[in-house]
Amino acid sequence: MKFFVTGGAGFIGSNFIFYMEKKHPEYEIICLDKLTYAGNLATLAPVMEKQNFKFVRVDIADREAVSSIFEVEKPDVVVNFAAESHVDRSIEDPGVFLQTNVIGTQVLLDACRKYGIRRYHQVSTDEVYGDLPLDRPDLFFTEQTPLHTSSPYSASKASADLLCNAYHRTYGLPITISRCSNNYGPYQFPEKLIPLMIANALADKPLPVYGQGLNVRDWLYVEDHCAAIDLILEQEEIGQVYNIGGHNEMRNIDIVKLICKALDKPEGLITYVTDRKGHDMRYAIDPTFIHEKLGWLPETKFEDGIQKTIQWYLDHRDWWEEIVSGAYQTYYERMYGNR
Ligand code: NAD
Ligand code: DAU
Repeated sequence: MKFFVTGGAGFIGSNFIFYMEKKHPEYEIICLDKLTYAGNLATLAPVMEKQNFKFVRVDIADREAVSSIFEVEKPDVVVNFAAESHVDRSIEDPGVFLQTNVIGTQVLLDACRKYGIRRYHQVSTDEVYGDLPLDRPDLFFTEQTPLHTSSPYSASKASADLLCNAYHRTYGLPITISRCSNNYGPYQFPEKLIPLMIANALADKPLPVYGQGLNVRDWLYVEDHCAAIDLILEQEEIGQVYNIGGHNEMRNIDIVKLICKALDKPEGLITYVTDRKGHDMRYAIDPTFIHEKLGWLPETKFEDGIQKTIQWYLDHRDWWEEIVSGAYQTYYERMYGNR
């Protein structure tokens, strides 16, 4: 079985490659990645020399390049992680989000149609459902919840989902879609809440909490997400959407305080800054369907996962310090300078 894993030099894609290498050493994996600011080849060092692994630098929105790789390699399965993934960046500059997340997905779907595929899996997000109010803890996102996006990022991800459904219905393409909640764990780029707060706290820098920090996210350890995708790929039914989440809702401010405590840093570092435009209030996944259909349940409790994650950032300073010392500085100044 030959897999294309797009976006495999990023956070979840690399964790997925490691997971699959361990679980299915008989599979051949080819990572396709453009290596944007969020992609890091050093992350893939543990698999780079393996016989059954190959890395190809390519933009998924480059039709010609994608077509030639499909022609040569003829993959059985495509798992599409490649995306512009940061909401704040999409608010600054939506264009590249449409290019990669929508056009890139279409290019991949067209190649799958042309060369044939056993499965195309789209890695989507719970953000396609919009948000839930804080005063209705009884409400959750199910697979039937209407798409109702807030940011240019989520709009681009929802558009990609709609394209996948259209290619399934119109051309019979064997697609599946998963919509996961917020992931955390090793190799997450330090622009996202948890690694940014860990990096800043370790440097005794202010911890920028948007608004009042009351927004709620539903956190899942990245390996549990990878396990869910593996199960989805193993079952035969196509055209199906799966929500992935572990009922682990937390307010941002509580996460930041927990990180301060774990690193023995004062809460005085917390700085309330101007809120994100259109900031989604609460995400909460109902994972009943994937649990009942595929038997999936998250294995890592948040208390353990967050300690493991903090320890990973302490043990891998070289990985993230290089990132935060480079071009990222300019980004940080632009996004947080006058907030
Ligand atoms: P990430 O930003 O860490 O990594 C994205 C990867 O895609 C990078 O390696 C980047 O180089 C690559 N990439 C970007 N544009 C590309 C292009 N045009 N062609 C080829 N490669 C390109 O993202 P992530 O957090 O690992 O997210 C992976 C996927 O999972 C995304 O589709 C995202 O929408 C989805 N998702 C993320 C989360 C989360 O909490 N991080 C939750 C649910 C779903
Ligand atoms: O829900 C899944 C989504 O989770 C994925 O689809 C996205 O790719 C991923 O980036 C993530 O989106 P969020 O916007 O929820 O993640 P982020 O880490 O950017 O922010 C989490 C919360 O923390 C959010 O309410 C905004 C807040 N925040 C974030 C940053 C970076 C802060 O308060 N301060 C910050 O500096």
